[in-house]
Amino acid sequence: MGQVSVARPKGTRDLLPDQTSRWRAAEEIAHRVFSSYGYGEIRTPALEATELFARSVGESTDIVHKEMFTFTDRGGRSLTLRPENTAGVVRAVIENGLAHGPMPLRLYYVGPQYRYERPQKGRYREFRQIGAEFFGASGPEADAELLAMLFDFLRALGFRNLSVSINAVPSAMQREGFSAAIREFSRGLHDRFGEDDRRRLEENPLRLFDSKDPETLRALEGAPGAIEFLDTASRAHHDEVLRLLAQLKIPFVENPRLVRGLDYYTRTVFEVTSSDLGAQDAILGGGRYDELVAELGGPHLPAVGFAIGEDRLVDVMPLATAGTARRIRVIPFGAEQAAYALKVAVAMRQAGTGAIVDLDVSGRGFKKALGTAAELGFQEAIIVGSAEVDAGTATVRNLLTREQRTVPLSELK
Ligand code: HAM
Repeated sequence: MGQVSVARPKGTRDLLPDQTSRWRAAEEIAHRVFSSYGYGEIRTPALEATELFARSVGESTDIVHKEMFTFTDRGGRSLTLRPENTAGVVRAVIENGLAHGPMPLRLYYVGPQYRYERPQKGRYREFRQIGAEFFGASGPEADAELLAMLFDFLRALGFRNLSVSINAVPSAMQREGFSAAIREFSRGLHDRFGEDDRRRLEENPLRLFDSKDPETLRALEGAPGAIEFLDTASRAHHDEVLRLLAQLKIPFVENPRLVRGLDYYTRTVFEVTSSDLGAQDAILGGGRYDELVAELGGPHLPAVGFAIGEDRLVDVMPLATAGTARRIRVIPFGAEQAAYALKVAVAMRQAGTGAIVDLDVSGRGFKKALGTAAELGFQEAIIVGSAEVDAGTATVRNLLTREQRTVPLSELK
């Protein structure tokens, strides 16, 4: 490995060509599947006003409390590298007038997000998400359709045995009863909670369920579930979502402990975890957020969405993306044939065969170049010597069988 005096920031990654092919495959499938459901792609800035996240993700969440990359720009404004993209999409929907346009509105995005977390397997400070947001439909069919799209996508990536973990939470406005019940339940448990969890209990008791402290989670066993505090309409919504999922044959498990680490959810919340990642690590999460658009200054506009952690997804996706393309290396016999070899390589690429055509520019001599090409996995070599230059031909050699034939340039394919 080369010595560099400036290393990349902690928690960031360089994705090299042998990795990016898997990323591109996943993204191409996302574009195809999401477009087929009528979603259009949106790209919003990686930088937003800090206040946007405080008002949407929520002050008491871990994300806003201790994970944001926030700085003051030269003009004195507080900016934050987005820790997630739902808030930015909602801002853009309001700011560009889409909130008053035709509904429903289906948007998806692919892009980097930033959270100051302790880096570990599958967890980074710069990571990428593939996400979708569905605005303007309040019925349970919208939740089910979104999950149907998600599962079409996951199945296209080769996943077979995933199931969605699902729950419903009362909206922020209706959360008082639930918060009071958790406070009541936690009376006398304070000394089992660490400092962070005491703060959670104080500021927003629902956040206790996000605790990463196993002792807190054990203490919460037997605590009342969020679902018990739903109003009748929300309860009916949830039951209908589950019925539709069963009808669509989307595997799900009800999880009364699931509350998710962001404050904007109302009713449906869900996650998918993979046992190939750490125990608590989800490959994706999402839910309904019927009050967020209005909260950020737009009209009342119900919405539901999800975001997939692309880094984690690409790590565990079964899809095989090994290159199957034919690979050919053009090798000049000596320096005098270099110009002709270049011409052959360009002609070969323009012939539109779909093959990957590489030109040997090592100047290391013909024999060595041929050996290297075979070692690197090229299936064919196109050899040009002075006889080929004179005759306007090229010699095509199969590097496995060592058979070769000489053909006019016009017949190269
Ligand atoms: P989230 O659960 O905070 O939800 O993030 C979604 C996914 O992003 C996680 O399940 C995880 O796979 C991935 N992720 C989060 N943090 C990291 C990290 N540090 N390193 C690697 N991957 C990470 C949201 O972001 C919501 N905006 C989802 C949503 C969309 N809800 C409604 N619409």
